[in-house]
Amino acid sequence: MGRVHLEALRRVEFVDVAAIAGRELGAAKRLGAGFGIETAVDDYHELLEDVTIDSVHICTPNATHYQMAKDALLAGKHVLCEKPLSVSVAEAQELVRLARERALRNCVCHNLRYYPMVQQMRRMREDGDLGEVLVVQGTYSQDWLLYATDWNWRIDAKAGGALRAMGDIGSHWFDMAEHLTGLRVQSLCADLQTFHSTRKRPKQSVETFGGKLLSAAAVEDTQVHTEDFGAVLFRMGESARGAMTASQVSAGRKNHLSIEVYGTKSSVRWDQERPDELWIGQRNSPNQVIVKDPSLLKKAAATYADLPGGHSEGYDDTFKQIFRRFYTSIAELESAPEYPQMLDGLRQMRIMEAELESHRKRSWAELADE
Ligand SMILES: NC(=O)c1ccc[n+]([C@@H]2O[C@H](COP(=O)([O-])OP(=O)(O)OC[C@H]3O[C@@H](n4cnc5c(N)ncnc54)[C@H](O)[C@@H]3O)[C@@H](O)[C@H]2O)c1
Repeated sequence: MGRVHLEALRRVEFVDVAAIAGRELGAAKRLGAGFGIETAVDDYHELLEDVTIDSVHICTPNATHYQMAKDALLAGKHVLCEKPLSVSVAEAQELVRLARERALRNCVCHNLRYYPMVQQMRRMREDGDLGEVLVVQGTYSQDWLLYATDWNWRIDAKAGGALRAMGDIGSHWFDMAEHLTGLRVQSLCADLQTFHSTRKRPKQSVETFGGKLLSAAAVEDTQVHTEDFGAVLFRMGESARGAMTASQVSAGRKNHLSIEVYGTKSSVRWDQERPDELWIGQRNSPNQVIVKDPSLLKKAAATYADLPGGHSEGYDDTFKQIFRRFYTSIAELESAPEYPQMLDGLRQMRIMEAELESHRKRSWAELADE
């Protein structure tokens, strides 16, 4: 994600990237050199002392987020942290408190909200086009951890947190569901499954999606305690109902985030693998598939589309949209933040905690509203 963030930052006109911190100095320098960034360090603390640096992006494995974000906030830096914000509710609460006390801008990178067609769905709901929301359903399915020979740090609870499929991709889904509908999950019932209780762990670290190229000699059998799959029933708002699954073992599915919202007037369905299309379902007239064209979108949704119709805007562009708004809010300290904040990251930690509790007790779990 460091590279993805760098590329997107290069597209935000008024932001300079000053330095890169990595675990290995050589790798950090090589990454920086490709982007004309001269400063690279292997200890991020060095950068926190630099008063010319306004903000930091945290793009490392989940269990490192809390300490890095805390150190950065204490050093007076604005923080943009990858999701999930932390590996516990308590950590997330502390970060929310620190950012609030120090009046620092803070963002959790739930970038998937910022596809133009996701914003179109949101504005349709806000304008009443869907009526009252009755049902929300969908999935986030991938296949990159299908085999016992597939490995990534996310599988290790110490690096990724107790929940894997639900934390890594389920959190994106629930963030989108609450953002789109404006409703909060009130209670849920979760069932988690670890299909591979033992996996072949590489003796050396591998980057995300890099495991397919490993040889048998370079791996060791390792117990797995994080889930490959999760299914959640949930209740939203006063009376809405929903169901979702998150899977990292669904052959053929790459980043299949699909979400359907059924209202009393009409329905919408969107799929991340066809991001420029939006299905609109109607009871008494023909259904429609509309394609992204900013001149035809709701006005507020069109501000998330920089290219004309027929030119697709995808995953990379969502980062540009979120970063642009984050840095605008730093430049204009009076403005209201228009992006997910640490409070939203805490919200996802609460949903994850409820999922774990529900699964362990084999019963429904209630969620407190912030
Ligand atoms: N928003 C999104 O769409 C999205 C997508 C993928 C990943 N993520 C999130 O981004 C984060 C990173 O995931 P990834 O897939 O890029 O992982 P990755 O394994 O590909 O990369 C992690 C990098 O962090 C570096 N690192 C680890 N510990 C470090 C430390 N102490 N100091 C400096 N660098 C350190 C590693 O060397 C590696 O280069 C995770 O929190 C993940 O959930 C978000």
